[in-house]
Amino acid sequence: MSNSRPSIPLVKVAMPPREKLMPSLESVLYSGMIAEGEFVYRFEERFSQQFGLANVLATSSGTAALHLAFLLSGVRPGNEVITTSMTAEPTNTTILQVGAKPVFADVDATTGNLSPSSVESLITQRTKAICVVHYAGYPARLNELRKLADQYGLSLIEDCAHALGAAYDNQPIGSVGDYAIFSFQAIKHMTTIDGGILAMKDPGKVSEARRLRWFGLSKGVPRTEVDITTVGFKYNMNNVTAVIGLNQLDGISPILQRHYDNGRYFDQMLNNIAGMAPASVDSLSKPAYWLYTLLTDDSDEVERLLTSEGIMASKLHRPNHLHSVFKPFVTPMPELEIFYDRLVHIPCGWWVSDEDRERIVSTLKRG
Ligand SMILES: Cc1ncc(COP(=O)(O)O)c(C=O)c1O
Repeated sequence: MSNSRPSIPLVKVAMPPREKLMPSLESVLYSGMIAEGEFVYRFEERFSQQFGLANVLATSSGTAALHLAFLLSGVRPGNEVITTSMTAEPTNTTILQVGAKPVFADVDATTGNLSPSSVESLITQRTKAICVVHYAGYPARLNELRKLADQYGLSLIEDCAHALGAAYDNQPIGSVGDYAIFSFQAIKHMTTIDGGILAMKDPGKVSEARRLRWFGLSKGVPRTEVDITTVGFKYNMNNVTAVIGLNQLDGISPILQRHYDNGRYFDQMLNNIAGMAPASVDSLSKPAYWLYTLLTDDSDEVERLLTSEGIMASKLHRPNHLHSVFKPFVTPMPELEIFYDRLVHIPCGWWVSDEDRERIVSTLKRG
């Protein structure tokens, strides 16, 4: 019976081979230099080259990078940030963290990504920034959002936590926004256990970002002479996680390619099954397919069917406006309701073999 076949997880930690990782990890652990240092700066340089992003700083998490992005955008108490509810919570808890108001725009029901027309309808005098998430790794409509940000003098922040290696209109993901963040938390395409990247369009912001990352102190100035003028945080990456990151970067290309190949396979194979449709991918998008987004007439039933066959499937996230902490900011989001009702994520990552993906398709066809 199919139930005896190995189960296919929805997400999985990718770790470099032990024989490759452990010697470099051990050497840094016993080097006496485990805090922020050479390996962190090397990681930033390599990440920048590999993903086509200028002005990158490594952080302790994607959440830390988001917090910095809002601060550097000048988002302050009383400001509004137009954002999406269809995301992981840190996208929006960090808006509350800087004392601003999250204003939830609606999404496109076929992608779960921000609808530019909904964003525009919510811009007010108090709006300071737009925060866009490339949900599940599918790029949002960046050209239109960039245009709106420019037209209204707003900062555009790209939350690329799900979208490592994606592209939009031939631009690397994260290069269109004024700020972009990435996450290296356990189950992302690439993990440093915890960690993140903040990328900035304006090189003039880097020194302020560095200070905010490190208590408000300028590194390199003797500690007895340095002066804190703005309160900062302890948001730096350290050499230990950076050396894991450097090892991950060596092996990330085939991992990203396998997510992409599996995603394209499902886009073709799940296109003509009654009652379901793949999330739409516009012609300018190259998705990262962190999760594969399937939209179905009965998502509970599809989830049950797949799970009973050992294929892990779920909605994975909870729209943020459903949390009590965001209740005061609830707006009508009819398209999001349709999207969420129809949503099931199915396994798509580097661990999904040719046989696995055929099994997923045949199970869905049978159901
Ligand atoms: C969309 C999104 N934004 C931000 C984050 C925060 O990243 P981290 O867990 O590295 O702080 C995550 C992941 O947890 C996420 O999924």
